[in-house]
Amino acid sequence: MASLAPAIAPRSPATIQFSRGVPPPEAIPAQELAAIARSVVTPPAPRVFQYAPSDGFLGDAVLREAVAARHAADASQVFIGNGSLQILDLIATLLIGADRDVVIVERPSYDRAIRIFGRRGGETVGIPLHHDGVDVEALEAQLRKGRTALIYLIPDFQNPTGVTTSLAKRLRISALAAEYNVTVIEDTPYRQLRLTGAEQPLFSELRSGARVITLGSLSKTVSPGLRIGYAIAEARFARQLADLATDIYLSPAPLCQSIAAECFSRGLVERNIDVTRDLLRPKWSAAIACVQAQFADSCIAVPEGGFFLGLMVRSRLTERELIAAAASEGVVLTPGSAFFPRNEQPAAGTVFLRLPFHALQHQEFETGLTILHQIIRS
Ligand SMILES: Cc1ncc(COP(=O)(O)O)c(C=O)c1O
Repeated sequence: MASLAPAIAPRSPATIQFSRGVPPPEAIPAQELAAIARSVVTPPAPRVFQYAPSDGFLGDAVLREAVAARHAADASQVFIGNGSLQILDLIATLLIGADRDVVIVERPSYDRAIRIFGRRGGETVGIPLHHDGVDVEALEAQLRKGRTALIYLIPDFQNPTGVTTSLAKRLRISALAAEYNVTVIEDTPYRQLRLTGAEQPLFSELRSGARVITLGSLSKTVSPGLRIGYAIAEARFARQLADLATDIYLSPAPLCQSIAAECFSRGLVERNIDVTRDLLRPKWSAAIACVQAQFADSCIAVPEGGFFLGLMVRSRLTERELIAAAASEGVVLTPGSAFFPRNEQPAAGTVFLRLPFHALQHQEFETGLTILHQIIRS
């Protein structure tokens, strides 16, 4: 396809990746992790090379205590899995049923979560997401229809928009979930990466009577390769997760869980959160300045932290054409349509763009955005 941005000199393909929300290498404390890994494999410690117990194993006891302390929960409520995404899949398997098959998500929401719900038999329904959280009137109207298995939310620095749900909306959603007897899943992998503004309470802290499952992860703050995620739920549900996990994968990797436990014990988790925030801050402020200069009217929310910004742009190009035009200029985009349930795509003439800013140097972000601006506005 001919370039739609002739003013821009051709670039080598795939040089600016707006497609992945991964921590940059400098945010992963590789040397300290290597030292911890050596310490947990030093004999006599063969247990890390054995299966974990197969009778409903919730996870490494030290690690569960550390996670429980972070959330003022009891260790019996904590289940550790191989990353939080797999735990979401286990939860979807347990909660989506024939009579309760509707999964309510923010629109847009995390693409992989949407795919999981569909695979587990859910009918995913999106509720429009504003700068401060979902449209609560639309949420209530949907709940009134019944059949809702769960509400899935990413309340802090949402993937893909960067939206943080306000306290007022948290309270209202929580009250609605209690009234309609629906479980809320709050997925919080970015929560510790706040750069401005006041921390909002977790849904699990609101005490509205709603059933809440909190998902957390070390992927964005320590290391995605460790594959450590956790769920905090009622103890009975945590045990159900453990039983299902044993049926599916027999045992998590005790080696990774031991390393993660040591990361907490040595204070590395908290230290690396500070390191990550320091690395994020200049990229975040530069990304916001660029977006406000070039796409102020399309920005869904100014993120208070996390990895992402989301734009809803008016475009005479279709998403496919826009992605191809950007690729020909060396800018790689994730298809924004993937963040919407299949039957609820953005209106014709609009395209959603997720812009991760953490994995890019800020000059790259600015160059990539300028290329997109020229393609879209030309
Ligand atoms: C909202 C959300 N949930 C879950 C995950 C996956 O996390 P994990 O690596 O713990 O599986 C991601 C990763 O991008 C995410 O953005």
